[in-house]
Amino acid sequence: MRKFENYDLISRNSNLKQDFKLSEGLERKLIKLSYQTVLTFLKNVFPLFDNETSCEECTDKFIKLFSVAKKQNLISRGGVPEKNYLLLSMTAQLLNPTLYVESGFFKGSSIHAVSQSKKLRRIIGFDPKHTNYRAILPKHLNVSLFKSDFADYDFNEEDLSLSLLYFDDHINTAERIIQASDKGFKNLIFDDSCGLMGTVERKFPSMPSLFFIENIENFSKNDEILWSKQGKKKLNFFNLFDINIKRKKSYLSFKFDEASISLCREAKNRILSITKMPDLNDFIKTNNLTTNDVTQHFVVLK
Ligand SMILES: C[S@@+](CC[C@H](N)C(=O)[O-])C[C@H]1O[C@@H](n2cnc3c(N)ncnc32)[C@H](O)[C@@H]1O
Repeated sequence: MRKFENYDLISRNSNLKQDFKLSEGLERKLIKLSYQTVLTFLKNVFPLFDNETSCEECTDKFIKLFSVAKKQNLISRGGVPEKNYLLLSMTAQLLNPTLYVESGFFKGSSIHAVSQSKKLRRIIGFDPKHTNYRAILPKHLNVSLFKSDFADYDFNEEDLSLSLLYFDDHINTAERIIQASDKGFKNLIFDDSCGLMGTVERKFPSMPSLFFIENIENFSKNDEILWSKQGKKKLNFFNLFDINIKRKKSYLSFKFDEASISLCREAKNRILSITKMPDLNDFIKTNNLTTNDVTQHFVVLK
């Protein structure tokens, strides 16, 4: 790039030996800007949205929470990446649910991200495997974690009027929407329920995902997607270097049939709106994404 060096404002100093660092105060400025983006997003989803939490408050809480999450090793493989942790934290602080329900809590990084919202009192989580769970949550929260499935839990004793339901279980999105609607939930967030690219990058996509449900009238019986996913294992040696080992490749496919098409139609009938949540790449550095599409979607049910 010698041609442009007169205009280049980047300092290129190999003595710096700094992988990533923001100068004092810059992280705060960026997090404050992310608050505005999430607020604008929520006002778009809920035109009458009444904001009760200030930018300063959300920013302070996020910065503390994020540093605790890093110490608890929650921002790591299998948990939510940094930008989605920020998105969940801001969304929860602004929406202020009293009840948070999550299906697929794994190590608890997304539960941790929402745990500081002001009015939150109750958390209910579902995951068949609890051995990876490691989030330490505020003591005042009434937390119940189950190995059973979300579909089998009786929510009659719970107050769902100010609830937020998060799906990160990679289970068939159409089924999850119908179940959530039958149980009386209105506000849902889906992780990993994407369109073509976000599906064929995954071994466990939640098919039929939101994109296919929303556009179901454009698909027909026997429409099929085939893809493969290379299994990988990363071995780390003395925290100094990683070696990626290739494992068995999986070959996967999804074909529409009458049953899946009518399931998608049923799910679509229950939906008021589906909105892509903002990508917060502009405000926070996210490390080691294994998939290129990590979009989260906000779904409001009728
Ligand atoms: C990508 S991880 C979730 C990450 C998690 N949200 C976090 O932030 O740490 C997906 C999880 O879904 C769980 N899962 C699989 N089947 C499930 C089911 N039927 N109900 C709930 N969770 C399920 C897996 O055990 C796994 O822990």
